[in-house]
Amino acid sequence: MTTAATASVHASVALDDIQGIVRFGYKHHTEACFLLLRVRDLLAARQWLAAAPVASAAAVEPLPATALQVALTAEGMHALGVPRHVVDGFSAEFVSGMGSDASRARRLGDVGSNAPEAWRWGLGARTPHVLLMLYALPGRLNAWQAAIESECAAGFDTLARWPCGDLRNVEHFGFADGISQPELDWPRARPAADAEQADYANLACLGEFLLGYPNEYGGYTDRPLLDPEQDPQGLLPRAEDVPGQADLGRNGSYLVLRQLQQDVPGFWQWLDRQAGGDHERREQLAACMVGRTRSGVPLAQATHIGAAMGAAVDLNDFDFNADPRGLCCPLGAHVRRANPRSADLPPGDAGPLSWLRRTLGFDSQALGQDLVASTRFHRLLRRGREYGRPVPLVEALQKPSTADGGHETGLFFVCLNANIARQFEFVQSAWLAGTHFNGLANEADPLLGTRQATPEGVATDSFSIPQAHGPDRRLTGLPQFVTLRGGAYFFLPGLRALRYLAWAPARGRR
Ligand code: HEM
Repeated sequence: MTTAATASVHASVALDDIQGIVRFGYKHHTEACFLLLRVRDLLAARQWLAAAPVASAAAVEPLPATALQVALTAEGMHALGVPRHVVDGFSAEFVSGMGSDASRARRLGDVGSNAPEAWRWGLGARTPHVLLMLYALPGRLNAWQAAIESECAAGFDTLARWPCGDLRNVEHFGFADGISQPELDWPRARPAADAEQADYANLACLGEFLLGYPNEYGGYTDRPLLDPEQDPQGLLPRAEDVPGQADLGRNGSYLVLRQLQQDVPGFWQWLDRQAGGDHERREQLAACMVGRTRSGVPLAQATHIGAAMGAAVDLNDFDFNADPRGLCCPLGAHVRRANPRSADLPPGDAGPLSWLRRTLGFDSQALGQDLVASTRFHRLLRRGREYGRPVPLVEALQKPSTADGGHETGLFFVCLNANIARQFEFVQSAWLAGTHFNGLANEADPLLGTRQATPEGVATDSFSIPQAHGPDRRLTGLPQFVTLRGGAYFFLPGLRALRYLAWAPARGRR
């Protein structure tokens, strides 16, 4: 949040209209609370939202003590009286909702104990309307939260109140987290519609995370565009791509929220049994499942790190091209599934001949490495927070698993994206829950899998670790370590759009 960072933002990007969470992780704001609200009194709710002190992405120095972020579900927009045709201009997934149908649930792996019917919140009368995310510097949360809650009391009922801290970049299983994030192209220097990306790159077009800007295809993701008469006061920014239209989506993003309960004792005790109680072996197996060591060193880069002999190394500067069989990092490791770091073309030499071979699919070496889709269309900006008291490893090895009544810990998984179907849902279903990811057979993400048998009755509770000589080592009987307790799709509007959503219907334009 420094002013130096502002210098490289393109003039067309109105940082003061973008919610801060798109640009900042609020990592210094170690105290946080998420509130799920439902509209009770329409007028009072609109009044509060119209004036809510939402923090923008503009740099502020010194750091503000508190930062409020606001997002709405489609049901929330309906409850606020936003005209149906306006809500229907958002994407179909957002409008219908995360837990809305059995087909989506099956694709996302929301089955068995993850099924929407078992959720604590997210369905029917327990669907949130508004999400408030409160971030505060140490010691500054309580009084501020009480003030916000008392202001909201007239307009909203509180469905859930979740204190969620920041475990200093370590998630509950004990791994460094928040290392890899896409880099947003704030200067808009990346050519839109860059036809072909031969190598994996971390820089992503703004339109992958913010509506109203060109995405990696060079197009603008669909969002509600309104005739100027629907915005007579000019509250909304105007669309870049359709002159004259008011752009309700611009500077906004879709926010995916999933409450993921983690069985920390279950995770470590299972690994300990596999490792025969050997500490080093247990750590190695855990690292294989994540794809990084606990301190964050990527397994795909481990030899390189060793060679660097302690020199500072960028923990995010790697891909999997040199490890096609998964000998360094198993093909099914969580980080390899979540971001296979693949480019549009399979890897190969530079030069026109190699390009032609790879484009036409004639490169026999590359064929096996071209099993996963190009990553640049499936990036997620993660903004999750942990909840519950951390369980130290010694305790985790002895305590009852959460399933047997141990205390609850977990992750509020939060990610931002401009296209829920192409980004979050694709990653979650094809890559994480997918049982044939990258040529694997009948195994899902080792951290997140539900271990439900396939429709043909084949078990999915295994994890393969390729070996240099001989067949893969295959761990079987993996329990479910993570359980989904609720979820919803929200829209995180630009600040001007939030004012519009709060007030537009009140003027009777339906
Ligand atoms: C309790 C659940 C989860 C745990 C414990 C977990 C843990 C981790 C860890 C330790 C990392 C490595 C640190 C890093 O690269 O920043 C990571 C990376 C990542 N995770 Fe998860 N994760 C969870 C759920 C999810 C879900 C639900 C998704 C997506 C739908 C996801 C997507 C990602 C992505 C995209 C990365 C970065 C991969 C890369 O770019 O290399 N994770 N996760």
